[in-house]
Amino acid sequence: MKLIFLGPPAAGKGTVAQHVSGDFGIVQISTGDLLRAAVKEKTELGLKAKKYMDSGQLVPDLLVIQLLQERIGMDDCKNGFILDGFPRTIPQAEALENSGVEIDKVINFVVPDSVLIRRVTGRRMSKSTGKIYNIYPECAPHPPADIPEDDLHQRPDDTEEVIRNRLEEYKKLTSPLIDFYRKKGILVDIKADDPLEKIIENTKKVISS
Ligand code: AP5
Repeated sequence: MKLIFLGPPAAGKGTVAQHVSGDFGIVQISTGDLLRAAVKEKTELGLKAKKYMDSGQLVPDLLVIQLLQERIGMDDCKNGFILDGFPRTIPQAEALENSGVEIDKVINFVVPDSVLIRRVTGRRMSKSTGKIYNIYPECAPHPPADIPEDDLHQRPDDTEEVIRNRLEEYKKLTSPLIDFYRKKGILVDIKADDPLEKIIENTKKVISS
């Protein structure tokens, strides 16, 4: 099972992937997480990627394509995977096709911009587990009551200013992928401003169908 989760920043791709991947015995591959790890470790790739990520721009295709190809060649990807945040441009999608990867389904998470901006500023990630939470009452999931305050981290690109650039990049470079995959007949839209539990349930139904 090889899936792509497509959608604008903060649409819920990572949250839903964390909740469904285990049920289907497949791994979640987030290029954002891989890039953030490279930035933290100050690798050559991380040093190159940081300036793009901090300003909300996409990292150049060549860097991301190589990173993704190395990751999907690993043993834990043999049963399949959810690509969360890749491809983000038509050249990335073409590179995936050219490397012989056959995608079964593309799930497109649809959310209005106003909801995305609110979600982004309330997002917190656990440093120890990588789990995604949100501190706003109308968002989900909330951090557990016993989680230490200093374990919760706010991404540097989760500011209102940077999210506006990320949304522009999404509209210009990533949204053409919706038509690209719809024409292939493998894209399914999911309304992603519903309660999280409903979205998780709908996503599982789409994956199983
Ligand atoms: P990346 O880490 O991929 O960020 P993104 O696509 O902008 O996506 P997000 O992680 O912001 O959102 P998400 O959809 O996963 O939402 P989440 O589940 O967290 O990329 C970061 C940067 O890396 C990019 O800007 C770029 O520079 C670079 N990059 C990465 N991949 C690249 C590529 N392929 N090519 C080039 N550059 C690349 O949810 C958001 C929040 O909402 C959370 O707090 C969550 O708790 C909450 N929430 C989720 N669902 C719900 C719900 N239904 N109701 C209420 N709250 C909800």
